[in-house]
Amino acid sequence: MNTMRLSLFYGGLLAFAASLASCGTEAPADSAKTQAILDMKRATDHHSYSRPEEAVVTHLNWNAAVDFDTRVITATATYDIETAADAERIIFDCTDLTIQAVRVDGEPVDFELGPAKRFIGQPLTFPVNGESRQVSIDYQSSPEAGALLWVEGDNPFLFTQSQAILARTWVPCQDSPGIRFTYEAHVDVPQGTMALMSATNPTQQSANGHYDFRMDQKIPSYLLALAVGNVEFRSVGEHTGVYAVPELIEAAAYEFAEMEDLLVAAENLYGKYAWERYDLLVLPPAFPFGGMENPRLTFATPTIIAGDRSLVSLVAHELAHSWSGNLVTNATWDDFWLNEGFTVYFEQRIMESVYGRDVSEMLATLSYQGLVDEVDAIMDLNPDDTHLKLHLQNRDPDDGLTAIAYDKGYFFLRRIEEVVGREAFDDFLKTYFATHAFSVMDTDRFIDYLKSVLLNTEELLAAVELDAWIFGPGLPENCPKVSSARIERVDAALAGWEAGTTATDDLPWNEWVYQERYRFLSNLDDATSPERLAELDASWGISSTGNNEVLFAWLEQSIRSQYQPSYARLESFLIEIGRRKFLTPLYKAMVDTDQKAMADAIYAKARPNYHSVSTGTMDELLAWSE
Ligand code: BES
Ligand code: ZN
Repeated sequence: MNTMRLSLFYGGLLAFAASLASCGTEAPADSAKTQAILDMKRATDHHSYSRPEEAVVTHLNWNAAVDFDTRVITATATYDIETAADAERIIFDCTDLTIQAVRVDGEPVDFELGPAKRFIGQPLTFPVNGESRQVSIDYQSSPEAGALLWVEGDNPFLFTQSQAILARTWVPCQDSPGIRFTYEAHVDVPQGTMALMSATNPTQQSANGHYDFRMDQKIPSYLLALAVGNVEFRSVGEHTGVYAVPELIEAAAYEFAEMEDLLVAAENLYGKYAWERYDLLVLPPAFPFGGMENPRLTFATPTIIAGDRSLVSLVAHELAHSWSGNLVTNATWDDFWLNEGFTVYFEQRIMESVYGRDVSEMLATLSYQGLVDEVDAIMDLNPDDTHLKLHLQNRDPDDGLTAIAYDKGYFFLRRIEEVVGREAFDDFLKTYFATHAFSVMDTDRFIDYLKSVLLNTEELLAAVELDAWIFGPGLPENCPKVSSARIERVDAALAGWEAGTTATDDLPWNEWVYQERYRFLSNLDDATSPERLAELDASWGISSTGNNEVLFAWLEQSIRSQYQPSYARLESFLIEIGRRKFLTPLYKAMVDTDQKAMADAIYAKARPNYHSVSTGTMDELLAWSE
């Protein structure tokens, strides 16, 4: 690579970008290409080898066959590309892929796979020039591919989890959130299964196991998604529906019946939904997250099926990403708060508009408690990780997945709302999404934009304190106060119960909704005796709750109190469920309380069921070696 030429290129673009930013206008839409290149050059993504300023993908045509026996995807990825006039090569990101052949405009070319680096994998490089238009890569994924989880048994299932940088383990791609492309896919899967993607989806199984997909809106690679399994579809509204295995389809259709209401509420807040349909796929319990905002098709854990629609805020969250994240995308993983903080804010607003302020303030109170706990925990380890703007170079972007991006991000935006007023902030957000739709945003550009259109006086800036929130540690003093009378009553009941002035049978457990029960259990004193947990269980049957959030809080306290009657349930929960948000605190509680041997024994049984995202964290927590 000619570094001189490249730095000139960068320098010119950066100067151009800076001049645009300083006069507070967006780039003129001379050509889509100039805009695309500009967008990408505003922030450097340390988690991708690609060099989009030289050669960048614009469309993917993915032809793939999925083989459950060998756990391999065999595929050809054909990309339309745009190249700079003096381009010499194109670079893709790959992790654990076997590259078989590469063609440029139909002609075979030599390719080079660079050395594998921790976290980011290998660069795949081959020659192109200013006239090159299309490249094809024949390849196979590895049975150990980090994005993929293959579930065996009578009902085989495959799903992907690409965010943050795992798309490159199943598709060679320019795996940077600032690079967007449209896609189509043609996929063969075993008969008796349906294939689904973050694209136009079937609602019936095909007779021959072949499926075709289109995604006509540009998306970044981390939103590429595939699932294969024996699922059924059920419509729940005009633009909304659910997919689930036959055993769960009824329960899923009931649980998520309000999806269309959430969609309407979201559109009323911040503008038209850009992705036509909003469907939800219920994944196997091994799914490592609560939800993933794959465009047109949210992937969700079955642990939110509670039977009473009490956990739908997760759907509100993933739906909100259809604007914050999927329309306006964080430029790099250092800017992750732009995705998640905005999404939590938007989620809360949807919840408030559909279920009322009482409910949304309970959620905000729980979010505040989670944030304070997380700040405490991270401050001891690495205070810089409590800044909204992160520095994840040479680290796993997964390290940024903490309550900071989510809840500090949320309270920061809530602070701005408090200062400028709701109406002005809503106008701002609506315009922000419309102006930056299908493009990327980094923290510095966001600050410039915010200052130019909303916080445009010294008084407003002083009231918000941008720098303290974005570049400073912990929680700024001006953090908004949340208050929920219902949560305060729970706290009072807990204090009474712990002091012995409120009898177990007098707790209003049956009147409490999930948030109140969760608050009670998660705030029990760590040293609560097993006898006292037995009392709670006898009165309120907590062990047999159908709400997995409540069960999780109960199991964690059971470990801390060494309440043995819960241990069988704990083991089956950990073997069945792979959601990292539950696993980490449960295994950690066992380690903290000298029950590491039990943790190891359970983990040995459970580990084969988990996705790489979860084993990555648990292996480290338990110092696991095979
Ligand atoms: N996009 C995230 C999940 C994610 C983030 C996966 C970063 C990989 C890397 C998703 O929207 C999310 O935040 N899920 C949460 C649920 C939410 C209600 C806070 C989860 O899975 O717990
Ligand atoms: Zn999210």
